[in-house]
Amino acid sequence: MKIVCIVNGERRELEVQPLRRLLDVLREDLGLTGTKEGCGEGECGACAVHIDGRLMNACQVPAFQVHGRKILTVEGLGTRESPDPLQAAFVTAGAVQCGFCTPGLLMASRALLDAKAAPTEAEIRAGLAGNLCRCTGYGRVVEAVRSAAGMRSGREGEDQSHPHGGPDVGSPVPSADDAVQVFMPNTLAEALAVMDHGEAVVMAGGTDLMAAFHAGRPLPDKVLDISRLRELTGIMLSPRRVTLGAAVSYTDLLNSTEVTAHWPALAEAARQVGAPAVQNMGTVGGNLVNASPGADLVPVLAALDGVVVLASTGGERRVPVLDFYKGYRDPDRRPDELVAAVELPRPAAGVRQAFFKAGTRRAQSIARVNLACCARIDTQGRLTDVKLVAGSVGPTIVALRETMAYMEGRRADEGGLDAACRRLASGEVHAIDDVRASADYRRQVLGNLVTKFVKIFV
Ligand SMILES: Cc1cc2nc3c(=O)[nH]c(=O)nc-3n(C[C@H](O)[C@H](O)[C@H](O)COP(=O)(O)OP(=O)(O)OC[C@H]3O[C@@H](n4cnc5c(N)ncnc54)[C@H](O)[C@@H]3O)c2cc1C
Ligand code: FES
Ligand code: FES
Repeated sequence: MKIVCIVNGERRELEVQPLRRLLDVLREDLGLTGTKEGCGEGECGACAVHIDGRLMNACQVPAFQVHGRKILTVEGLGTRESPDPLQAAFVTAGAVQCGFCTPGLLMASRALLDAKAAPTEAEIRAGLAGNLCRCTGYGRVVEAVRSAAGMRSGREGEDQSHPHGGPDVGSPVPSADDAVQVFMPNTLAEALAVMDHGEAVVMAGGTDLMAAFHAGRPLPDKVLDISRLRELTGIMLSPRRVTLGAAVSYTDLLNSTEVTAHWPALAEAARQVGAPAVQNMGTVGGNLVNASPGADLVPVLAALDGVVVLASTGGERRVPVLDFYKGYRDPDRRPDELVAAVELPRPAAGVRQAFFKAGTRRAQSIARVNLACCARIDTQGRLTDVKLVAGSVGPTIVALRETMAYMEGRRADEGGLDAACRRLASGEVHAIDDVRASADYRRQVLGNLVTKFVKIFV
C-alpha cells in the first residue's frame, strides 16, 4: 500500500504493508531509531510519538492509519544545536541514565506541555503515567518537566492540530502484494456496505487489536477502518440525551465539558483507562465490543442506562448496555453490524454518580474490580434510582440487584446502611478466581466499594 504522511515536517511517500506497525516503519524504513521498542503492546511508552499533535504509541498504530497524518518523533523535537527546552531540562536535571526511556518520556512531556503550559506535579505524573523508566526514577523527570514548563518550543507555530492535520492526499493506493485489504470508507453507509459483504475486522483505535496481533492472533484478510468516520467520531447533545459516536476516544470524552459536567462517572472511568496515549487512541465502541470483563467504560455505560446503537444495511437496532453481553466476551452483535453509537439519557436532577476501580497500580492497570454507581435522594430524604454495576467480578458486567433493591427507598442516614450494603454486595456475586485476584478478594473489595458510595450520602 502506498501511503503519504508528513514525518518531522517532511513529506514522505511510503510503500508499506497496511498492518505493519508505525514503530517498524519509523525505525526500519526511515532509520528514525530514536523511537524505541520496549513492551511492543502499549504498556511502556518507549515508542511514543505525536500523530496530528496527539501522543500515541507507535507499536499500536498500523501503518495505514497514518496516511495523510503528521508524525512527530523525537528526532523532530529539537536538534543538538537547537534542542527543545525539555531536552535541555532533562540533561540539566539529570533525568537521563541509560536513556532508553528518554525519547518516549520527552514525547509524553511535550504533549503534556503543549496541552497545558504549567501543569501541577499531579498533572505531570498523570501525563507521564504510561512511560516506564527502570533506572533514573521519576523525581528528576518531574523536576525537568516542571522546569521546562512555560518555555517556548522551537516548533511553536507549526500546525500539529487534531484531527488530521496532515496533507490532503486522498485515499492510500493498494498494492498487489498487500497481505491485508484495508477499507477506509468516508461515510457510514460505505462502511455498512463493507460489513454486508464480508468478514472484515473492524478497527477503531486498534489498542486491543494491535496488542492481539502482537500476541500472535493471525492477521485478518480484510480490515475496515472506522477511525476517521465523521458520523462515528462526534459527541452529540440534545435536551434528552447524549449520543457518543462509537469511535469517540477517551480523550474526546475528557475534553467534553458537557460529559464531565453531566456524566462525571463516565469521565472518571475514561481518566482511569490506561494512560494518556491509550486514552488518545482507545474508543467507546472498541471497549464495548472487545467485551473484556474488566473493561472500565462498560459498567458505567450500563449504570447510566446506556443503549448500544447497532447499525447495518438493514437498519438500526438498539440494545441496553446491561443486556448487550450474552456471556464471556460474547457481545450481542451480528457480523454485519457495526456499533455506531451509545446513547445515554440525561441524568435526573440531583443524581450522584461514581466510578471506582481497584487495580494493581494507578496507571495502565486492568481492574481487579470496578464499580459504577448512581443514586439520588428524593424529597423525603430516601435513596432512589439506585444503580450499581460491577465489572471484573464475573464473565460479564453484573448489576448488583439485591443491593440495589435493598437501598431503594431507604433513608440515606439510616444507621448500619453501609454495613448492610457491604454484606449484600459481597454476598450476591459469584466472583471469579483468576490470575488477577481471588474470588474472595473480589467479593471483599466489591463490598468496600459499595460502602464508599453509600457514604457519599451520609
Ligand atoms: C496499554 C493498554 C492499557 C489499557 N488499559 C485499559 C483500561 O485501563 N481499561 C479498559 O477498559 N481498557 C483498557 N485497555 C483496552 C483498550 O484500550 C480499550 O478496550 C479500548 O477502548 C479499545 O478501543 P479501540 O478503539 O482501541 O479498539 P480496537 O482495538 O480498534 O477494537 C477492539 C475490538 O472491538 C471491535 N470494534 C471496535 N470498534 C467497533 C465498532 N464500532 N463496531 C464493531 N466492532 C468494533 C474490533 O473489531 C475489535 O474486536 C488497555 C489497552 C492497552 C493496550
Ligand atoms: S513499545 Fe512499549 S508502548 Fe510501544
Ligand atoms: S533512563 Fe534508563 S530506563 Fe529510563
